[in-house]
Parts: sequence; C-alpha cells; structure tokens
Amino acid sequence: MRRVRHVLYSQQFDRPILDGLFGRADEFRRRMAVPSEKLALTQLHRGKTLFSVFYEPSTRTRMSFGAAAQHLGMGVVATENAREFSSAVKGETLEDTIRVLCEYHPDVIALRHYEIGAAERAARHSSVPIINAGDGGGQHPTQALLDLYTIHQALGAIDGLTVTIGGDLANGRTARSLAYLLAKFERMRILFVAPDSLRMGADIKEHLQEKGVTFAEESRLEAALPQSDVVYWTRVQKERLDPDAAGDEALAAFVIGPAQLELMKPNAVLMHPLPRLTEIPSEVDSDPRAWYFRQAGNGMFIRMALLEWIFDGD
Ligand code: NCD
Repeated sequence: MRRVRHVLYSQQFDRPILDGLFGRADEFRRRMAVPSEKLALTQLHRGKTLFSVFYEPSTRTRMSFGAAAQHLGMGVVATENAREFSSAVKGETLEDTIRVLCEYHPDVIALRHYEIGAAERAARHSSVPIINAGDGGGQHPTQALLDLYTIHQALGAIDGLTVTIGGDLANGRTARSLAYLLAKFERMRILFVAPDSLRMGADIKEHLQEKGVTFAEESRLEAALPQSDVVYWTRVQKERLDPDAAGDEALAAFVIGPAQLELMKPNAVLMHPLPRLTEIPSEVDSDPRAWYFRQAGNGMFIRMALLEWIFDGD
C-alpha cells in the first residue's frame, strides 16, 4: 500500500518535486485559459472529495483550495469557521474530529488551525492525506510553494538570489515556511528585516546555519533593499501578539512605499502573502515590481498541482 502523502512542512519538498509542481502549475495555467481544456481538466479527479476544515480566518487559501479542487472535477465539503461552528466549541479534540471526518470518505483534508503542530497531530489520526493550510505561528507550506513558484515565474532561476524577508518574522508562518524552502537552493542570501520584538525565530536561523545558507538580520530596510532580487513583505500578526505589544508603532518604520521602491533594483520582485494592511500602501500596486496579486493567483495553480501530486505522485 502506498504511504499516505501528507503535506505538513515546507522542508519536506526536494528540488525535483518542486520542479515537477512548477511544471504542472504552468500547464494548468495554460489549460485553464482555453475553455475546452478547462472543461477537460474536470475529468482528472472526478469523484474525489476535498474536505476543507478551517479553524482560523482565510480568504485566499480556502477559496483557492476549493477552486483548485473543483477545477480538477473534485467535490468540496467545507467548514469555514470551525473554531466557532464545529464541535470544537463543545470541547471535542482535533484528533477525534479528524477520526470522524475520515469516516465520511474524504480523499484529502486541508486543515487550517490556530495551534502550532495541529496538522502533524491530525496526520497521526488520519487515514487520508492532511494538508497543512497554516498551523498557528508554525508553518504554511502551500503558501511557500506558491511564493517560490512566483519567484521562479518572475526571475527564472532561484539559485544565487538575494531575498529580503521582512515584517513580523516572529509570528508570520509564511516567512518561516519560505525560509525553509529557500534553504534548498544554492548560493542564496537571505536578509531578515524586522522590528526588534518581531525577529525571526532561532529555530529557522539554526536551520539555515546547518544548511550553510548565508543570512543576516538587517535592521535598516534602506540597506537591504538595493541588494535584493526579491523583497517579501508581511503584516503584523496582530491576532498572535499580546494586546500590549507595540505592533503598530514598531512597524511604522517597516513600510514599502514609493520612497522605498526607489531604492529597489529595477527588476526586483515585491511580494506579500496578503492580506496587506498599511505596510504596502496601494499606490505601490501599479509598479511593475509589485507581484502580490499575481502571486495570489498562483496559489490556485500550485494547489491544483499539489492535489495531483498527492493523488498521483510516485
Ligand atoms: C497568510 C497566513 O494565513 O498566514 N495568509 C495567507 O494564507 N495568504 C498571511 C497572513 O495572514 O498574514
């Protein structure tokens, strides 16, 4: 029997798998633009069902997983506010919930939860693949896949790039998952730019050290920007901060606006997992280097490729 293929951490992917996913995502993008091809795609995974189980808010991840599944002909069964509307309110454990859901014959479960390690716990009690769609301040591996796919689309090769990752690095799971994935590439340079209270966790820095990845914590945004091929910006994860934390004031100096664009390379790629708040004002959107909406669109194609990989791979 084939092993159940869970997607729990970004570091579980190797470069051949990433190349395969990017190739398939390109193919899905091309075919989705041709009506007859789009229809043909719905034959690929007909009869399969995605359970979409979200205990935390989401727009992009939830909708793009649902859309990806439906474009592949799958059915989608969803609970979108499970923290309030599922039996979690009554005190049911995640483990029990997952066991019960498996009785309803999903083919895959996309799970977003507010606790670090929730997807891993769910996987231990699931007979079908669990996809970690975000586990608290832990990881968000499918976001990292779409982020890397976007860099690949914008710049071609990933080896040798200088990537600035900025914002709330202490609590942002997308920044963490992206750092793990970037560590798979050669000659990378990563610059972390964050307020003192929101610096990148020691676990990630130790991992980069072990993998021999060059990185630095750069407190001055103006020093990081001119060197960067990719600027990956994030919001303060207010919901994960204690209410007294000085999130807003700390981040006032961490805005990418027109003045910061001036400092960036002409071909740099400005990314954000979204939602963005004030850290990238909307006047930046029309700059050709602003990739965040195209980046969000990539989420659906990479999730189509990922679902296919889970079902068909090896
Ligand atoms: C991110 C998340 O949920 O971690 N959103 C997303 O999935 N695109 C980023 C965020 O909420 O800041």
